[in-house]
Amino acid sequence: MSSNRSVTLTDDTSGKNWKFPVLAGSTGPDVIDVRKLYGDTGMFTYDPGFTSTGSCESKITYIDGDQGILLHRGYNIADLAERSDFMEVAYLLLNGELPTADEKAEFIHTISRHTMVHEQITTFYRGFRRDAHPMAVCCGVVGALSAFYHDSLDINDPQQRMIASHRLIAKMPTIAAMAYKYSVGQPFMYPQNNLSYAGNFLRMMFGVPAEEYVMNPVIEKAMDRILMLHADHEQNASTSTVRLAGSSGANPFACIAAGIASLWGPSHGGANEAVLNMLQHIGDKKNIPAFLSRVKDKNDHTRLMGFGHRVYKNYDPRATVMRKTCHEVLASLGIKGDPLLDLAMEMEQIALKDDYFVSKKLYPNVDFYSGIIFRAIGIPVTMFTVLFAVARTTGWIAQWREMIEDPQSKIGRPRQLYTGLTERPYVPIHARK
Ligand code: CMC
Repeated sequence: MSSNRSVTLTDDTSGKNWKFPVLAGSTGPDVIDVRKLYGDTGMFTYDPGFTSTGSCESKITYIDGDQGILLHRGYNIADLAERSDFMEVAYLLLNGELPTADEKAEFIHTISRHTMVHEQITTFYRGFRRDAHPMAVCCGVVGALSAFYHDSLDINDPQQRMIASHRLIAKMPTIAAMAYKYSVGQPFMYPQNNLSYAGNFLRMMFGVPAEEYVMNPVIEKAMDRILMLHADHEQNASTSTVRLAGSSGANPFACIAAGIASLWGPSHGGANEAVLNMLQHIGDKKNIPAFLSRVKDKNDHTRLMGFGHRVYKNYDPRATVMRKTCHEVLASLGIKGDPLLDLAMEMEQIALKDDYFVSKKLYPNVDFYSGIIFRAIGIPVTMFTVLFAVARTTGWIAQWREMIEDPQSKIGRPRQLYTGLTERPYVPIHARK
């Protein structure tokens, strides 16, 4: 961690110097340890959007944005997507190692025994409007879990932390599918524990009690892969939200609800829904040039959704796998000439050659393709971000646990550059202008 390097900060006005240690990780950029900056200099750092700030030490996920590399506990995402499955990746993120066959079987057994939700939770759903956005419903219901599972709220008890982690990972697909069922007025489907994590979700989404659900293995595998590709992504907005919420000692259900709220935004997880809406809005290939000129216009706030990333300045490695999966799913479902997919592919080709996107290093991200696969599978657009939340819950939980178990972690409390008015006398109402 510590290196022999240090950096010196010089105040150009007073000529004073302060030395700060440089810390080295196992790979990736070194960091300047500024924990003593305020105490030593009386100044803070200023970094809106945290573009240059490392907020924690972590051993879970590594991203090299220039090379387009994503590693979970040292394993490359392309390898995991090809050879592993979501339950293994969840175990890996939580425990640091891939499971042995026995460990995997036990983990699956544990998760599958926590898939049901307290029966009274169904009454929660009935309090929502049928046309409520499922992210709103999931955010509320996940937060409400802390009102039901009192025996796993003590964050200082490792056993309770583990049970809460298992509960959240296990119940998320149930909660998500129930949000969908409620929106279409169909009966909730109870989980079926002999199915895979992805398969169980699909059955709860698309099955009905009146008929046996027939699983399509291609769709089941694609869903599992999508879950893997979204499982964790280092200190993004929602993960940082989960950590920040958890840093105050809040319970894990409340923290994950906070993560869901943050994920919902169109700059983050909400982008997959926004991509589909954007493609539908463009409607036809002939409208692409006009749309792209709006995107490039500084006075227009239109963005090419599914393009660009804060960290990746090269191809998003998840998008590479997702693109391949997208073609596999469409081929196996016999979907040819889907107009939205054709439009998306045309858009991708034009944008990849366009100087605006090339010079700004804006490449397609994971959300550019996931929406198209979801659409092919029959997932309604409003459920896209919910699926992201189902997958990311594993990463959130792993990151939350790492933070709780880190002896160095403190309550998160950023400071500010204050530019408001300085102290002034109170003005009585009759004297105000
Ligand atoms: N379309 C058009 N211009 C863009 C786009 C885009 N999608 N993304 C960035 N830019 C431009 C932006 O206008 C700015 O230009 P200039 O330097 O001339 O002002 C420059 O590129 C840098 O953009 P930024 O907003 O400072 O970059 P950021 O790192 O703060 O934002 C981002 C990253 C993902 C929010 C942004 O690229 C974006 O809004 N993309 C579209 C939404 C999206 O697809 N989000 C999903 C991200 S991947 C999944 C996830 O992490 O949840």
